[in-house]
Amino acid sequence: MALLHATCQTGVVTDQEHPRSPENRSTTPISEAFRDFISTGWGPEPTPSAHPLPQARFASARRERVSREFPGVTLVIPAGETQTRSNDTEYPYRPHTAFVYLTGWGSDTVPGSILLGIPKGTAHDWVLFTRPPAPRTSDEFYANPSIGEFWTGRRPGLDDVGTWLGLETKDREDWAGEAMPLLANSAVIREAEGALTDTIDSLRHADDQTGDDTLARVISELRLVKDEWEIAQLTTAIHATHQGFSRIVAALPEASAHPRGERIIEGVFHQAARLEGNDTGYGTIAASGPHACILHWVTNDGPVTPGHLLLVDAGIELDSLYTADITRTIPVSGRFSPLQRQIYEAVLDAADQAFAVVKPGALFRDIHEAAMRVIAGYVHEWGFLPVSLEESLATEGQHHRRYMIHGTSHHLGLDVHDCAKARREMYMDKELEPGMVFTIEPGLYFQPDDHTVPAEWRGIGVRIEDNIVVTEDGAENLSRDIPRTVDEVENWVSGR
Ligand code: GLY
Ligand code: MN
Ligand code: MN
Repeated sequence: MALLHATCQTGVVTDQEHPRSPENRSTTPISEAFRDFISTGWGPEPTPSAHPLPQARFASARRERVSREFPGVTLVIPAGETQTRSNDTEYPYRPHTAFVYLTGWGSDTVPGSILLGIPKGTAHDWVLFTRPPAPRTSDEFYANPSIGEFWTGRRPGLDDVGTWLGLETKDREDWAGEAMPLLANSAVIREAEGALTDTIDSLRHADDQTGDDTLARVISELRLVKDEWEIAQLTTAIHATHQGFSRIVAALPEASAHPRGERIIEGVFHQAARLEGNDTGYGTIAASGPHACILHWVTNDGPVTPGHLLLVDAGIELDSLYTADITRTIPVSGRFSPLQRQIYEAVLDAADQAFAVVKPGALFRDIHEAAMRVIAGYVHEWGFLPVSLEESLATEGQHHRRYMIHGTSHHLGLDVHDCAKARREMYMDKELEPGMVFTIEPGLYFQPDDHTVPAEWRGIGVRIEDNIVVTEDGAENLSRDIPRTVDEVENWVSGR
C-alpha cells in the first residue's frame, strides 16, 4: 500500500492519504538497509484474546430496528476520520454518535471504520470495515504519523474487534471493492466522513439526500428511549461527574487564590474526566460571579471570588461515550447571602415543580411549561415584569424569559444534546416513556447591566441541572446525590 515518497513530517514517507510537507522537520531514513532492518526482528503478533462486550447484544438489537425501516437500502454508517486542528495536529478522536450507537464501539474506535448494512430480504447483513494492524513489513507502522502504530499505538486485529462487537469484520482496504457495487440505492450518515459522502453522492442515481436525512432521523428517534445498558452507562457517568464536582469543591481555596481561578475549576474537572472516563462530554462552563449570566461561558479565565456564586456546568463522558450534564451553583465562601439564597431557592422550586410533572404519558414540553410558570411567578412577585403574570405567560407575552432565555430540558445520552434530529412530534410534543433520559435545568440570570432589576441583583446567575430518567410510574433524579438544596450545598462547600 503505502508508497515511499521523499519527505514527510517525520521524515519521509508516509502513505499518500496523509501527505505532509516537512522540509524543516527531521527525516525518517529511506535507505533500503534501514527498511530491511526495521521490518525484521519483531516478536510474534499478539494472539486474539477478545471477549464479547456487554453492549454488543444491545447494539445488535438497535441494528435490527434500523434495518426494519430501510428494506432493500444499503446503509453506510461511518465512524469518521480524525479532524485536523491545525497543520499536522489533530483533535482528540471522537467517532460519530450513530456509529457508536449501532456498534457499541466507544473511545477506542479505530478512526476510519465504517459499518455497512447490506440488504438481505427485508433485513440487512452487517459488516464492519476497519483498519487492521499494519504488518511490520509495511512502512505504514513506523512512517505514518497519522495512523502508524509507532506513532499512535497498536490497533486491534480484525478478529478481536469482531469478537468484541459480534460483527463480521473486514479490512477497510476491501471497502471499495465490496461496497461500491451496492451504493446506487443507499443511505449514508452524511456528516461522518465527508469524502465518503461525496463518493456516494457521485454513485447514486439521483442527487437525492432524502434517504440520508431519514436515516439520521430514524437513528435519532430510536435513541430517545434508552435501553438498560445505556441507563447504566448514564448512571455511571453521573456518579463520575459527582466525583468531579467533589474535586471542584476541594479546589475552591486554590481557585480563590489564583487570578484565573475559573481555569483551576475547569482543570480539576478535566482531570477527573480523564481519570474516571474518556473526557468531558462538552466544554466545561466554570462561571464565577457575573460570568454565570453568560449561558455558555467557556472562556473560564476569571477569578473565583469569595462572596460570589460559582456556576459550574460540566459532565464526564465515559469510554462508552455516554455523558452526564450537571450544573451546580455554589457560594464560593460556603454560605449563600440572603439574596443569593432567595434566587437559588426560586430556581430549585422551578426544578422541583418541573420534576413533579415527569411521568409516562406527560408531554416533554410540559416540563418546560411547569418550570416557566414557577420562574414567571417569582419574577412577577419580585416586581420585574412590566405586565401581569397572565400576560407574561401568554404566548404573545413571555416577558419572564428575559431572565431565563434557554430551554428547561433536552434529551441526554451519547450526545449532550441528544437525539437532535428527531422530529418535533417525537421530541417536544411527545409523550414521555419509561427509559427516556433528559435534563431539568432551570435558571435565573440577572445581567450586570440589566436595569429592570435592583442594582444588588445584577450579576447574579443561578442554574441547577439534574439528569432524570422516566420510570414505569414516574421518574428518578439520577443526580439527586450531588448536593442541591441550600443546606446540602452549604455543608458540602464548608466540608461538613
Ligand atoms: N451544558 C449544556 C447544557 O446544559 O445544555
Ligand atoms: Mn449543562
Ligand atoms: Mn443541559
